Amino acid sequence: MKRVAILISGGGSNMLALLDSMVGDHPARAVLVASNDPAAGGLAKAAARDVPVAAVDHRPFGKDRAAFEAELLRHIEAAEPDILCLAGFMRVLTPGFVSRFEGRMLNIHPSLLPKYPGLHTHQRALDAGDAEAGCTVHEVTAVLDDGPVLGQARVPVLSGDRPDTLAARVLVQEHRLYPAVLRRYAAGDRTPVLL
Ligand code: GRF
Repeated sequence: MKRVAILISGGGSNMLALLDSMVGDHPARAVLVASNDPAAGGLAKAAARDVPVAAVDHRPFGKDRAAFEAELLRHIEAAEPDILCLAGFMRVLTPGFVSRFEGRMLNIHPSLLPKYPGLHTHQRALDAGDAEAGCTVHEVTAVLDDGPVLGQARVPVLSGDRPDTLAARVLVQEHRLYPAVLRRYAAGDRTPVLL
């Protein structure tokens, strides 16, 4: 049984989808949900499902990313995860942190990578007049929103779409894609999931 730790920064809707998928004959179970924000709504949802939680407020650490990550790592390492899933985690991780989990750390990004790494992905897709948008699950490497693609889901861009309406359509697919990728990844299969 693979042990999965999930990092969140907010409501954790992707984290919830992952938790709800890890049942029955699924080859993984969640051992920790951790956040950089003690007020992240997802922490209470995880705790309500009896998943151990941890929070390390990044703000007191200021620009000292390494010190923040060292404290976060203390909680993560204690849970002894095999796989780390970033799910709406909004802090950029240092190469030092990434190297500890390279090859076993996933992230979901709300665009069809390699298009639109970084922020404001839906606004950028609308500005470009794209006919399609979507989300990508990829392995995390030292380069932000880069790394091998493990899955993608596409949605149409509709006339009259605003960033929030497009984000809502993509989020539905995120909740389908991430669990599908994690199940395959936990079974040792890196064949991309294309929805
Ligand atoms: C989602 O758009 C996800 O793609 C991005 O963070 C947003 C919120 O995710 N990474 P969640 O609801 O906190 O899982």
